[in-house]
Amino acid sequence: MEEGLLRIREVSKHFGGVYAVNGVSLDVKEGGICGLVGPNGSGKSTLFNTILGIHRPDGGNIYFNGNCINCLAPHQIYALGLVNAFQLPRLFYQMSVLDNMLVAARGQQGDKLLNSLFLRRKWQEQEKGLIEEALEILELMELDKWAFSLAGELSGGQRKLLEVARALMAKPTLLLLDEPAAGINPVLGRKMFQKLEDLSRNGTTFFIVEHRLEILFEFASWIYVMDRGKTVVGGEPEDISEEPAFYRAYLGEE
Ligand SMILES: Nc1ncnc2c1ncn2[C@@H]1O[C@H](COP(=O)(O)OP(=O)(O)O)[C@@H](O)[C@H]1O
Ligand SMILES: [Mg+2]
Repeated sequence: MEEGLLRIREVSKHFGGVYAVNGVSLDVKEGGICGLVGPNGSGKSTLFNTILGIHRPDGGNIYFNGNCINCLAPHQIYALGLVNAFQLPRLFYQMSVLDNMLVAARGQQGDKLLNSLFLRRKWQEQEKGLIEEALEILELMELDKWAFSLAGELSGGQRKLLEVARALMAKPTLLLLDEPAAGINPVLGRKMFQKLEDLSRNGTTFFIVEHRLEILFEFASWIYVMDRGKTVVGGEPEDISEEPAFYRAYLGEE
């Protein structure tokens, strides 16, 4: 049997008497966009925060790339390549778009090497490589024209794109996005998902919570539906949109 890149087994997280996540099992396969949907309060964000090590699960196991990660701290999970775009520090509005990308870069040795003239050259080469990488990602997100503008001058939608672009500097294996299209216009939202789909063909897998179902269903290869702390159904978007359990989750049942 093919193993998921991310495997969640019987994971629970409760807050007092609230079972925010209640025995969830699911797999995110490598490649493509996997979507997670469900009505408000169904436990999507809590599940994401549990995957990321922000919450420790009360029960169950989470495996990423074959490693059990439920006892790891968020920075250790990040180091394994499981990254959340909206968890990074906020954008620095007084800094250029490019500088925002560079400060987010991982494995930057500049600080350590800066003091040594001997190693200066190596540092400069590395910095040059990072700048090239950053510009490439900015181009992908259609932000390259603003590389030298202040991040504060970007529109709301472009800031969202920049947050995703920064997360990509970490070269994540799996990128979690909690409502990336929230608050941006539908045209830009679709464009963003188009870019994510392109990226998903080049080695980054996406696991995305999104309320804009029409956009998510167009680009996702698999959708899980949560309702009251549980996953009630999973499948291809075409099939999910015909699942009674999907409608029950949204319409509620007494
Ligand atoms: N830190 C918290 N403390 C207490 N209750 C929480 C906390 N986070 C979420 N909850 C509760 O857990 C349930 C699921 O919330 P959440 O995961 O945010 O749902 P969703 O992201 O699907 O809207 C809700 O009832 C919410 O009130
Ligand atoms: Mg949420």
